Amino acid sequence: PSNHSQTDGLLGLERGNCRAKGGSTGFKMAILGAAGGIGQPLAMLMKMNPLVSVLHLYDVVNTPGVTADISHMDTGAVVRGFLGQQQLEEALIGMDLVIIPAGVPRKPGMTRDDLFNINAGIVKTLCEGIAKCCPKAIVNLISNPVNSTVPIAAEVFKKAGTFDPKRLLGVTMLDVVRANTFVAEVLGLEPREVDVPVVGGHAGVTILPLLSQVKPPCSFTQKEIDYLTDRIQNGGTEVVEAKAGAGSATLSMAYAAVKFADACLRGLRGDAGIVECAYVASHVTELPFFASKVRLGRSGVEEIQPLGPLNEYERVGLEKAKKELAASIQKGISFFNK
Ligand code: NAI
Repeated sequence: PSNHSQTDGLLGLERGNCRAKGGSTGFKMAILGAAGGIGQPLAMLMKMNPLVSVLHLYDVVNTPGVTADISHMDTGAVVRGFLGQQQLEEALIGMDLVIIPAGVPRKPGMTRDDLFNINAGIVKTLCEGIAKCCPKAIVNLISNPVNSTVPIAAEVFKKAGTFDPKRLLGVTMLDVVRANTFVAEVLGLEPREVDVPVVGGHAGVTILPLLSQVKPPCSFTQKEIDYLTDRIQNGGTEVVEAKAGAGSATLSMAYAAVKFADACLRGLRGDAGIVECAYVASHVTELPFFASKVRLGRSGVEEIQPLGPLNEYERVGLEKAKKELAASIQKGISFFNK
């Protein structure tokens, strides 16, 4: 690319072919919303990922600065910045993975659904670009309300004739990361050793931690279950309130997004046995979209795993989650069709 290219050798002085232009191995990925609170640390962490050979940073503001800054990190990925709608297509051509954290975040007192009016339009525009320029890319959608933005993205791709349910994933990894942390705290374990499946969706009661399926196997008192369920469901609001108007989770979200993106890339590479929770087109319930454990592989989501045995508390939670999810999904689909 031209003037916005930051690290392809500004003077044309680089020697030999030791550093393939555009990267001959590894994956090409773009972050849309890369100058934001999530986007910046996410870009930094992806620049550190050895599976990434090309990192495109797109935003409507500030990408030249973020790109120049990150491009000085002495890791392999070639970083390029793209600014404004007129450079969206260039940012997307040839990408294997696209992560979308573009859009406005919550302020105290707001629900994720309050973001709908602004973020729905942003997601629609960005997904139209993806359908045109990299229809085979894996898409990791972070912009809230995820419960509705994923159905919007699906509608955009369907209209363009490019929809592949295996390649569109709503990122609910932060709920899993929080659940692992809070459960480890209660059990007195190292968080890395703990695995809590979180299913449903990514807002309030749709966030359904399956505490009966925690690994390593353990049991909780009812008081612990109430405390953990409430804290996991409201973890985002905890951060929004602590930030007091300065935004929502960004650093823990960037961490979670990278954990998830890395799993997707390892899947693309052909690694076996990669299973993470994600919000995807699904037949696990009667709803068209649902978050549950999925196995990731060369084509994206290769298997959607069943929910497994639920206890009575979780069955009640599931009914509540489905009711709210159904409305959020419908809202996304109606937005697209209006
Ligand atoms: P932010 O406001 O700090 O950054 C958003 C970035 O998106 C800004 O740089 C902005 O310029 C950019 N942007 C706006 N319109 C755009 C467009 N049309 N194209 C490209 N970029 C555009 O917000 P933050 O904190 O980074 O949050 C981003 C989104 O992620 C929010 O919707 C938030 O609710 C969501 N989120 C999702 C979580 C999840 O678990 N899935 C967790 C935390 C936040």
